Amino acid sequence: MTTTITPAITIAIDGYSSSGKSSMAKALAKKIGYRYIDSGAMYRAVTLYAMQHSMISAGHEVDCDALIAALPLIKIDFKVCEDGQHTLLNGVDVESKIRQLDVSNNVSQVAVIPAIRHALVAMQQAFGTEKGIVMDGRDIGTTVFPDAELKIFVNASAETRAMRRHKELIEKGESSTYEDVLANVVTRDHIDETRQESPLRKAQDAILLDNSKMTIAEQDSWLIDRYNEAISKLK
Ligand code: CDP
Repeated sequence: MTTTITPAITIAIDGYSSSGKSSMAKALAKKIGYRYIDSGAMYRAVTLYAMQHSMISAGHEVDCDALIAALPLIKIDFKVCEDGQHTLLNGVDVESKIRQLDVSNNVSQVAVIPAIRHALVAMQQAFGTEKGIVMDGRDIGTTVFPDAELKIFVNASAETRAMRRHKELIEKGESSTYEDVLANVVTRDHIDETRQESPLRKAQDAILLDNSKMTIAEQDSWLIDRYNEAISKLK
């Protein structure tokens, strides 16, 4: 009797802020037994570190030299918990802190700094050496894993994305308004798309998904179908 072993692949899920890519990526990773890495959480953790060490002004100006010099002191890890994966910054669980709007309001300014990107991209690539990984972010299909066997690019209207993120923050007990969240989504999209270093772009070979009108169950099943197609191409 012959058994076929399903080859492990690399899956890159990129897209606009709050487009639901993390939820899709997590659900897929769980279903197929892959490791999931949230690259945005890594940028958020570096941002939190910078905020905690007074390296970001009230006007969102980042002291780049100080932050770059501190890079060797910043250790980011992930821990699997009952309610999902948590981000650790120098051993401290910062999962809920990094999702707050004050971090969201500074993160894209940190993510434009080339030296920060180089350091985080190298860490992200190290996570993926064995394949069997789903990673989500902005530049995974273009820069981190340009050879990924499956690339998805997710979008939805800014209003839909802001409404989803607002609901999520309210459910977590945060006191943000829809208008603040929408402003953050629009600002981050602009900074992410127009930065010099690996801007937010759909990779040429990525499959585009507009999930504005999809339920979570529909988008999860759409993604499983794309995964099965990618695997069947390899067999
Ligand atoms: O969850 P959401 O889509 O709102 O954002 P995120 O994935 O947590 O990413 C936060 C921010 O980090 C983004 O707005 C980008 O500025 C930056 N980022 C990036 O530049 N490259 C990545 N691969 C991931 C995130």
